[in-house]
Amino acid sequence: MSMVKLPRVALGHWPTPLHELPHLSAALGGPRIFVKRDDLSGLALGGNKCRKLEYVLADALKNGVDTLITSGSSQSNHALQTAAAARKLGMEAYLVLVKGMHVETQGNLLLQNILNSTVNIVEVADPSEMFTTMPRKMNELADELRSKGRTPLVIPAGAEFPLGTVGWVDAAEEIGRQLKDQEIDAQYVVLAHSGGGTQAGLVLGFKQLKLPLNVVGISTMYQKSAAVNEVVTLANDTARLLGFDVTITPDEVTLYDDYIGEGYGIPTEGCIEAIRLVAQTEAIFLDPVYSAKAMAGFVDLIRKGEFTSKDTVLFIHTGGVPALFAYHQELAG
Ligand SMILES: Cc1ncc(COP(=O)(O)O)c(C=O)c1O
Repeated sequence: MSMVKLPRVALGHWPTPLHELPHLSAALGGPRIFVKRDDLSGLALGGNKCRKLEYVLADALKNGVDTLITSGSSQSNHALQTAAAARKLGMEAYLVLVKGMHVETQGNLLLQNILNSTVNIVEVADPSEMFTTMPRKMNELADELRSKGRTPLVIPAGAEFPLGTVGWVDAAEEIGRQLKDQEIDAQYVVLAHSGGGTQAGLVLGFKQLKLPLNVVGISTMYQKSAAVNEVVTLANDTARLLGFDVTITPDEVTLYDDYIGEGYGIPTEGCIEAIRLVAQTEAIFLDPVYSAKAMAGFVDLIRKGEFTSKDTVLFIHTGGVPALFAYHQELAG
């Protein structure tokens, strides 16, 4: 029986595959590596937001919501997943995006265009404003839509709130089951971190299940101190929502902020190397904003001896693949 007992609406296909990457392990001469394929979650070319939205939108349906409003960067995967989920559930989507890299109609913006979402791109000083100044803009839009008779729901960027995080608590249980069934003795889980909900859900879920997996986040946006606090807060608020009697403390959150490079959304050399390496060894495409930065960090940590051939590591592919096409100039070799 599932440890999460909240309503969920079906948007993806579960469980996503979990399989070994033997050629990547051999190329790196390091740990045994497995991947969890949430790039194959099934909604709008996949990604980690599908699990979050299954809980957020089950609640929205109960409340008669007919319009979704959310935020993100101009190549936001979360915004695409939200827009796609809206169509699947017969709703409209309004996307208030902060101007970042690649505002041309390519990648996620092309798919949003095809979905006929209403997109408003706002010029900002820093992409992190999707979490700070955009909520006000989204609330103003919600008021306007309400005055026109609609029932909107404002979803924070990345669905970074407890009900969204629940999706990744549930994923912890799915991963635990797959590792057991496949007799994989993994010690580490490595993934990309931005708002922190994915990491928070996994840390909480593994602790509740008493699974001794060390979750290692690789930051794509925030410096470590702020990011760790955010993961702790999200995990503990989610624990309360789910009625779990566990508390997460900062020392239980492992996070590296050394792989962001020049900034959020700007590919590093390591990130481009990681995209090519994983494609050429395993025929899996990583994305230039999140999963490839996480893989670049993982590769560097292997080269530094932080992970050795004695370890078994599960890498979470959190999706984002459509952005590859927007970044074609940076990526073409
Ligand atoms: C492809 C991809 N990976 C990872 C993340 C990071 O997830 P979280 O915001 O839960 O830390 C995001 C968030 O936008 C994403 O789009």
